[in-house]
Amino acid sequence: MANSERRVLLVDDDPLVCALMEELLVGEGFEVETVVTGQAAIDRVSDGFRGVMVLDVLLPDLDGTAVFEAVKDLSSDVPVVFLTGYGSTDLALSTIQSGAFDFMDKAHVADRLAEVVGTAFDSLMTRDELAGASAEVPFEGIVTRSPQMRAVFRSLDNALDSKVTVLIRGESGTGKELIATGIHAHGPRRDGPFVTVNCASIPESLLEAELFGYERGAFTGAHGRKLGRFEMAHRGTLFLDEIGELQPALQAKLLRVIQERSFQRLGGLQTLQADVRILSATNRNLEEEVAAGRFREDLYYRLAVFTVHLPPLRERSGDVPLLVNHFVAEVARREARPVPRVDARAMELLASYGWPGNVRELENVISFAVVSAKGSVLTIADLPAHFLRAVALVRGSGEAPHRDGGGLAGRGGPPGGAAYAHASLAAAVPARAASAVELRHFPTLAEVETQHILAALAAAGQNKSRAAALLGISRTTLYRKLEEMG
Ligand SMILES: Nc1ncnc2c1ncn2[C@@H]1O[C@H](COP(=O)(O)OP(=O)(O)OP(=O)(O)O)[C@@H](O)[C@H]1O
Ligand SMILES: [Mg+2]
Repeated sequence: MANSERRVLLVDDDPLVCALMEELLVGEGFEVETVVTGQAAIDRVSDGFRGVMVLDVLLPDLDGTAVFEAVKDLSSDVPVVFLTGYGSTDLALSTIQSGAFDFMDKAHVADRLAEVVGTAFDSLMTRDELAGASAEVPFEGIVTRSPQMRAVFRSLDNALDSKVTVLIRGESGTGKELIATGIHAHGPRRDGPFVTVNCASIPESLLEAELFGYERGAFTGAHGRKLGRFEMAHRGTLFLDEIGELQPALQAKLLRVIQERSFQRLGGLQTLQADVRILSATNRNLEEEVAAGRFREDLYYRLAVFTVHLPPLRERSGDVPLLVNHFVAEVARREARPVPRVDARAMELLASYGWPGNVRELENVISFAVVSAKGSVLTIADLPAHFLRAVALVRGSGEAPHRDGGGLAGRGGPPGGAAYAHASLAAAVPARAASAVELRHFPTLAEVETQHILAALAAAGQNKSRAAALLGISRTTLYRKLEEMG
């Protein structure tokens, strides 16, 4: 969403608070409107206001929660952030339960306002806007607005129109296969076949036959002729995935095919032409493999004529909210259920994590969460226990959550105070009878307890005494429970 469309409606009758909030938000590039009564706020939404509403609970004419209910009826596209400031956690809890985006104490407005409002806008991204954000990405199905990824596409531009061999590098789950498919689909061979060989998943003894095919009688059990992947990829593209796992004998054979552009089936005499474009991918450091004598240097140079490196997700953390919304929409469509909105605290937690398994790990976490989400809002309580455990472990070890200069840098940090635990508790309690799918994924008491303990620890900044106090149990009980959780 362009900055010019980032409109915020402030609803507060205190001119001082309004002036402060306006200054903060304008400084961050938001457009701000102010109204001083609840009725005026409702009128603005019925007149078509779309954006984020920051709403005081105490207004001269109407109760803030009544304004919120009216706004909800008028539009589902206006996330509401409540201003409480009266120390009322009960009220805060009930606003979140009824679908408010977030709430904040007036005393903390200066610290949190811009961050919370920014996250609320992230949550508003629709499919169209997601598509818009990725409009500059030349490949379908790839969601990103990271400058590093754009640089990847710019450099690939030169390789698309040719037959050049491309080596795609990057950690596991960064999208190497997706990029390989894109290179093929946008190149001159797009109408030819795209054939994949995963060098890691086929046993070495079978890989040669798989690549080059065989003639009848080439070995015991070869009852007929079988075409290899090289032949299948004729006039198309052969994608050699996990190329770093290729054993030396096959490295030599592959090199020969690349140099001579011809090969023979196993047990065959005929020399066949290989008009094949080769793409390969690896998550290994091939220079190290070469230096250690495990990978042939000459083959390395042949494969790495053109190299692209996909950055890990932690180096483009601005992509996390975008990918979260993308996968939430995808999974909801696949499961034929309404698209839930991701609440601020869940989004902050997702964005603060380092994602060692990159986009694939994020996709898995979101798939789980969408299926287990109980209502129209996806909260921390819907995130899988193993993910919360991983977050707690990273924070507990004192390691800073991985962040970079991406879109979310500076936002977030440890989610705020007791409200965090309350919000997760609130979301763990379904307000209505569950559907069959929900029942299948209904968390057990132990799972809810585990998630709640981890949420309390995160809220307490990993301080066990404070977490125990939040949970209303003794430190010893908390230690025992943590031990039981393993
Ligand atoms: N930028 C992206 N936008 C949308 N989906 C993505 C993006 N990057 C990766 N994915 C999705 O994440 C998953 C992992 O991607 P992919 O299989 O291409 O990664 P990989 O680098 O080949 O991983 P591995 O090394 O584990 O094989 C896939 O489901 C893919 O569709
Ligand atoms: Mg892969």
